[in-house]
Amino acid sequence: MKIAVLRETAPGEARVAATPETVKKFIALGATIAVEAGAGEHASIADAAFAEAGASVGDRAATLSGAEIVLGVQGPAPEGLPRGAWVAAGLNPFSERARVDAYAAAGVEALAMEFMPRITRAQSMDILSSQSNLSGYKAVLDAAAEYGRAFPMMMTAAGTVSAARVFVMGVGVAGLQAIATARRLGAQVSATDVRAATKEQILSLGAKPIFVEAVKGIEGEGTGGYATEMSDEYKVAQAELVSSHIAKQDIVITTALIPGRPAPRLVSDAQVASMRPGSVIVDLAVEQGGNVEGAVAGEVVVRHGVKIVGHRNVPSRLAADASALFARNLFNFLSAFWDKEAGRPVLDAEIGDAIRLTKDGQVVNPRLTGAA
Ligand code: NAI
Repeated sequence: MKIAVLRETAPGEARVAATPETVKKFIALGATIAVEAGAGEHASIADAAFAEAGASVGDRAATLSGAEIVLGVQGPAPEGLPRGAWVAAGLNPFSERARVDAYAAAGVEALAMEFMPRITRAQSMDILSSQSNLSGYKAVLDAAAEYGRAFPMMMTAAGTVSAARVFVMGVGVAGLQAIATARRLGAQVSATDVRAATKEQILSLGAKPIFVEAVKGIEGEGTGGYATEMSDEYKVAQAELVSSHIAKQDIVITTALIPGRPAPRLVSDAQVASMRPGSVIVDLAVEQGGNVEGAVAGEVVVRHGVKIVGHRNVPSRLAADASALFARNLFNFLSAFWDKEAGRPVLDAEIGDAIRLTKDGQVVNPRLTGAA
């Protein structure tokens, strides 16, 4: 059983889907591993480190030749993938639909790691959680770097510096880590979400919950712990509440996503204008359409004296740790299903059917075929 690890080709992608640690673990399971030369370069992993761990290192063709499983952070180009191989990566199935069709045509079995179901036994395989956690942390550091003031209160002989006020919108995995990180830096933190269950979590991190009360649909929670689209009544109430709060904030970090839909718009241009000059907004949803009006993917723009940070692929900005966690997610996934006799993983229906996009030349996932 040969597993191939490709060098990422997407612009700005610095992560890699395996580390020397996971290479060793796969070998211990009985697999052989081939790594494309340079795969770890931007995540501070030299080819020699992969070779030392037991991988063969070569060009793309040699890496793919005879491979039965191909690992990636993002979806690899379909050209040259061995027929019948599994491709396990973050495949971005909704926005990269054409590539999914190309995987079907290439006869590979594409496994979208972001479709991993949110069940307890799959937590250690969940790339969305592992990468969002780092994004939430990095968003706060990016905000701090752009902010011309300090986060903590400082009492100095020259006078007092007041603590930054940080507002986190969307308290999933990234938002929780953003709250914790901003608190550690000494900021005064508040946060909001549509899922009522997050109120407790906000309080337990020592932050202040800002919530719409007494409006229909307040639970805000759909299947799998994800948010749902909210009622118009709720949206109006939320906008009013947020307007009065946002005007008093120095830093806003938005992380709100709704699976399979554009990100909800949480901050309007007028709300941006209400913040004092020098404030910073970080929009982690910028690549899914953005939570903030005026945010531009890949840029830091200034609107009404407020900096709006829209970095793409934030986990890649912490490539070494992001790769280590991503690689472990892939290993945890494949090893959990490893069948010793078959010498390869054999998926069960609950997880296999959720993540499998293509098989035998067809697109088979109900979330893509419209059957879900
Ligand atoms: P996400 O990345 O899909 O969304 C981020 C946050 O934005 C969510 O908390 C969502 O409720 C919020 N949001 C959506 N629309 C909003 C709006 N209009 N206003 C304000 N906030 C809005 O969510 P994420 O981070 O993936 O986590 C969602 C939940 O799933 C969490 O409770 C998490 O603990 C749980 N989870 C469970 C896993 C498992 O059991 N394997 C794995 C990962 C997460």
